Amino acid sequence: MNLFDVYPLFDITPVRAQGAYVWDDKGKRYLDLYGGHAVISIGHSHPHYVKRIARQLYDIGFYSNSVQMPMQQELADKLGELSGYEDYSLFLCNSGAEANENALKLASFQTGRKKVIAFKGAFHGRTSAAVAATDDTKIQAPINQTDNIIFLPLNDVAAFAQALQEHGSDLAAVIVEGIQGVGGVQLPGPAFLKTLAAGCEKVGALLILDEVQSGYGRSGKFFAHQHADIKPHLITMAKGMGNGFPVAGVLIHPDIESRHGMLGTTFGGNYLACAAALAVLEVIKEENLTENAQQIGQRLMNALRQLPGVKDVRGQGLMIGVELDKPCAPIRKQLLEEYQIFTGSSSDKNTLRLLPPLCIGAREVEKFLQAFEAILYQTEPQSI
Ligand SMILES: Cc1ncc(COP(=O)(O)O)c(C=O)c1O
Repeated sequence: MNLFDVYPLFDITPVRAQGAYVWDDKGKRYLDLYGGHAVISIGHSHPHYVKRIARQLYDIGFYSNSVQMPMQQELADKLGELSGYEDYSLFLCNSGAEANENALKLASFQTGRKKVIAFKGAFHGRTSAAVAATDDTKIQAPINQTDNIIFLPLNDVAAFAQALQEHGSDLAAVIVEGIQGVGGVQLPGPAFLKTLAAGCEKVGALLILDEVQSGYGRSGKFFAHQHADIKPHLITMAKGMGNGFPVAGVLIHPDIESRHGMLGTTFGGNYLACAAALAVLEVIKEENLTENAQQIGQRLMNALRQLPGVKDVRGQGLMIGVELDKPCAPIRKQLLEEYQIFTGSSSDKNTLRLLPPLCIGAREVEKFLQAFEAILYQTEPQSI
């Protein structure tokens, strides 16, 4: 049987990883500044994480969501403490798309409405409602297409006001990424997020913050929207939550009431997922990884701004987009093949994405900057 061929692949076979490094089957070491699409938060194969999941597997790995599982409450308590959302509830699921799908359903259940405002450049996942709210018709099948989604330019207050006027009474939700990732690391401004929150309150719609990529300490705060000091009704999270173990969740405002059967999942919140997610939170707290992301990220962004051919550096913490004056694909290839450094792309061909593990230090930053600078000097036309 063949694998269904939907991914372009690098010719690299990782067999081992530790911290911010990955080794291939030939023993070659790579610096991982992409974390497998922003997934690696506490670092590859962190010893506490490995021990906690392994220990759990020896006890019990799975039972369905029909029995008492105190670990889920332990996870909700710890997440409430670290995120500052103690009064919200947690629904556990398995992936970012599923978290957004459930958040969109909750907003529709709660309001009895169907329309959703989403933003140009957004990526929310590949399930039915999530992909409909994703600004990429290439990944929408005919069955996903709907006129319930209104796409607006990010940070356009006038367009938002106009849309509220036209659709306010039908509006179930506004969904926005804490920082747009796939879209090339585009930040919604704090004033814009405040406008969205106020607009939702005004028309009785729910604000959904997609923190699937930007959450879990990556931005230098637990969630990126906390830089804007707003409180959304629903917050979705995934990638960094399990450091590679598939686990995701929705944080739900206390005004939203649950009822049995409203949402559900077979695998969501299983023992192994809880063990992984608890280990991640314990390490984030113990090793001050959110603060590290803030400090190292700031240093890295400042240094990147000095390099030739760099047009713009956007981001917060360790979610960084470097916009060049040329396509970044050949530079990413050179970084990987000549310097053994993984970086990411985005839907903007000139913007390279950096999403390293939150534990990286000055040594890793220096190694990357030296390599990047050398490549940029080779490719920039020399001024005489
Ligand atoms: C902001 C955002 N939301 C949702 C998703 C979908 O997550 P998943 O691939 O886990 O379904 C992604 C994945 O890249 C994402 O970046």
